[in-house]
Amino acid sequence: MTPATSNSAHHHVFLTGFSGSGKSSVGPILARLMKRQFVDLDARIVRLQGASITDLFSSRGESYFRTLEARTLQQVVAAARGDLVVALGGGALLSPVNREIVAATGTLVYLSCAVVEIYRRLSRLTDRPLLASTLAKPVATRHETLERIRTLLSKRRPQYGQAAITCSTTSRSPQETARELYTKLGYR
Ligand code: S3P
Repeated sequence: MTPATSNSAHHHVFLTGFSGSGKSSVGPILARLMKRQFVDLDARIVRLQGASITDLFSSRGESYFRTLEARTLQQVVAAARGDLVVALGGGALLSPVNREIVAATGTLVYLSCAVVEIYRRLSRLTDRPLLASTLAKPVATRHETLERIRTLLSKRRPQYGQAAITCSTTSRSPQETARELYTKLGYR
C-alpha cells in the first residue's frame, strides 16, 4: 500500500527522535492533552509479532525489522478512526515509505536530546538492539557508547531535520515537553 491509498483524511502527529529522547513518555501525555489516541509503533510491533524488538533483531535481523516497521505503520494509519499521536521508532524514518506516509498524513515532530542525556537514559535499558553491543560490555566504556550514539545521530539528522516542529527534551520532564508541544501545535 502506498501513502496515496492510506487513510489521509486524518492529520496525525508523528513523534520522532533518537532512542531515549522521550517519544514513548511524552506521546501519551500529549495524546491526552489533544484528546487523541496514542500509538507506540514499537509496542504495536511487539504485540502483533508476540516477540520483543531485541528478539526480532537477533532472530531475523535489522532489515526484517525495518520491513515490519513499515508494514505496521501503514496498517496503523490505514486503520485510524481519528487523528492519532504516533511515537515512531528512532530509525523509522530511514525508510522512504515511512517518510512518505508521515508527510502525507500528518505533522512530524522531532524530540531532540543532548547526547549525554540520551546515554544516561539508555544506560538504564537493555532493550535497544542497535546499542546493545556497546551498552552490554561493561568496559565498552562511556566513550564508545557516546561515539555510537553520535554516529547514528549524525546519519539520521537529515531525516529528523524534516520535522515541522522541534522540541528539546534535555533536562525536562515529559509533562513539560508535552505541554510545550501542545502549544507549538497551535493549542492552548
Ligand atoms: C531503533 C529504535 C527503537 C526500535 C529499534 C530500532 C533505532 O525505538 O525501533 O530498537 O533504529 O533507533 P526507540 O526509538 O523507541 O528506542
